[in-house]
Amino acid sequence: MKRPEINIRLMQNNDLDAILRIDKLVLNISRPEYYEQKFERLFTSGEYLPTSLVAEDAEGMVVGFIMGELYIGEYGLSNDGATVDTIGVDPDFQNQGIGELLMDEFIDHLRQLGVKKVHTLVEKNDKAMMHYFEKNRFQSSQTVISLERNL
Ligand SMILES: CC(C)(COP(=O)(O)OP(=O)(O)OC[C@H]1O[C@@H](n2cnc3c(N)ncnc32)[C@H](O)[C@@H]1OP(=O)(O)O)[C@@H](O)C(=O)NCCC(=O)NCCS
Repeated sequence: MKRPEINIRLMQNNDLDAILRIDKLVLNISRPEYYEQKFERLFTSGEYLPTSLVAEDAEGMVVGFIMGELYIGEYGLSNDGATVDTIGVDPDFQNQGIGELLMDEFIDHLRQLGVKKVHTLVEKNDKAMMHYFEKNRFQSSQTVISLERNL
């Protein structure tokens, strides 16, 4: 697989529109409130270390992103580790290794910050996302189980 020329950099507050564009392409729905709240929490609250990344093509167009949360509490880094919760690659650029590159850089960055574990939640029936995370060496948690109750 030949990967196009891609630059990975930290996500910034003004990447919101680019993220909304890609999210709409991959999900077929628009969810600006979700991202506006996320951006506010990550970039303005001062409670999270920057971990989210974007992938740009040679022209500087954002073609993919990965968003995570690393909470810095009163006493420093959270012991619970970091989470990765939202990822998207422009369909025109999928299957070229960009998703893998984003995850590799995300993990490297967290490692440098001293993080020991990354969590995520995936819908059991979402075969494509399960495949993506398994391929990127995520496995079922040995310590946490997700519980729910119907109302
Ligand atoms: C999952 C995703 C990030 C992978 O990005 P990518 O750049 O294509 O990833 P890679 O090129 O590194 O490929 C990773 C694997 O995913 C598979 N894959 C890529 N695109 C896929 C697609 N549209 N459907 C199913 N599998 C896909 C590839 O086959 C590859 O596996 P393989 O090498 O075993 O064949 C991308 O498909 C995507 O954005 N999907 C939508 C994600 C989504 O729903 N986000 C919103 C909620 S979080």
